[in-house]
Amino acid sequence: MAQVVARRSAAPAEGRNTMTRRSIGIIVNGVTGRMGYRQHLVRSLLAIREQGGVPLTDGTSIWPEPVLVGRNETRLREIAERHGLTDWTTDLSAALARDDVEIYFDAQVTQQREKAIRRALEAGKHVYTEKPLAEDTEGALDLARAARAAGVRTGVVQDKLFLPGLRKLKRLIDGGFFGRILSVRGEFGYWVFEGDWQPAQRPSWNYRAEDGGGIVVDMFPHWQYVLEELFGRVRTVSCVTATHVPQRVDESGRTYPATADDAAYGIFELDGGVVAQLNSSWCVRVHRDELVEFQVDGTEGSAVAGLRGCRVQHRAVTPKPVWNPDLPVTEAFRSQWTEVPDNEEFDNGFKVQWEAFLRHVVAGEPFPWDFLAGARGVQLAELGLRSAREGARLDVPELDL
Ligand SMILES: NC(=O)c1ccc[n+]([C@@H]2O[C@H](COP(=O)([O-])OP(=O)(O)OC[C@H]3O[C@@H](n4cnc5c(N)ncnc54)[C@H](O)[C@@H]3O)[C@@H](O)[C@H]2O)c1
Repeated sequence: MAQVVARRSAAPAEGRNTMTRRSIGIIVNGVTGRMGYRQHLVRSLLAIREQGGVPLTDGTSIWPEPVLVGRNETRLREIAERHGLTDWTTDLSAALARDDVEIYFDAQVTQQREKAIRRALEAGKHVYTEKPLAEDTEGALDLARAARAAGVRTGVVQDKLFLPGLRKLKRLIDGGFFGRILSVRGEFGYWVFEGDWQPAQRPSWNYRAEDGGGIVVDMFPHWQYVLEELFGRVRTVSCVTATHVPQRVDESGRTYPATADDAAYGIFELDGGVVAQLNSSWCVRVHRDELVEFQVDGTEGSAVAGLRGCRVQHRAVTPKPVWNPDLPVTEAFRSQWTEVPDNEEFDNGFKVQWEAFLRHVVAGEPFPWDFLAGARGVQLAELGLRSAREGARLDVPELDL
């Protein structure tokens, strides 16, 4: 891997030797974490280098130069060496002071994000970040205002939009397959081990409210952009949350009280009367084809989309079940759906969005998923939690700068 990167650093990728390379320094803060390392460094920035950069129409190729930033020198050096990289530091201020660094990217734990982004904005950097943008709506809007005042470009990760299953769903919507869309039912989740007899597969801070954890804060920012981009603006939210597993064991074997919600049962009313009901849970065992699935029912047809697959049933081939508990089921319901073909190649969603952000920064191409869009995700999480606390259905006001 290191050798491949080094060789391609020296010579443009095959077939692109007429391209001019436009290097762009990118701070990757939180690169030792799950998302920072796998999805953003390896699957996005290094994958972009392996393909020869991001091509622009004028023949230029954008070439990301990652500057790895974190708190632990040993882990940073180890990651850098593993991938043939040399630029890493534990000193964020020094990295932000560099002229050859144009973008600050943040994949730290959520609680550290706002103050780090503020520093990046003060240093005049463009900023791209994992979600949620901040811990509360006011903080998120404040960042959006500060970015506007600084005249820099911003972006927030909205990776689910680029999942093959959701891209197929969008294609069906755009093609008018559903007629009038009535409802969306989403099931997201899987069993996250408690950490006692088997290690947990998510970081323990996710289960502590005081450390920025909780499934509402984690998932509602995703649901906000998925609902809005596919079906319509979210007008109201009602939510019930639970902490089903009250005690867990952390990475170092210590038992801790789980203070954050580990399941959320939400109902969202959207523009046009669409009702979306989304369950999110780390305390559910999977009896589905994928870890997330959305069923969309419309007057003309229905679809069930997952991360990758999408199946449909048109009104013309809809069976007519009759409720009779005295008789065994005679229909093989699952077999009555048709798989939607790929019809295109789907790349890693994080990488696709990185490419769009880089084109936005370098060539001014449109990029709708900015800090204001990110603030809407934070707002929905905040209102979801408030709805659960108050037992109320809440309006979702429009946000503006
Ligand atoms: N887009 C998605 O699908 C998705 C999925 C999971 C997580 N996330 C988001 O990504 C972010 C990171 O999540 P993760 O699962 O990778 O977590 P993680 O715990 O694996 O990584 C967190 C990173 O932050 C660093 N960190 C921890 N405490 C810190 C502190 N006090 N100060 C500075 N740095 C600190 C860690 O060293 C690590 O590099 C979160 O904001 C989360 O919401 C997004």
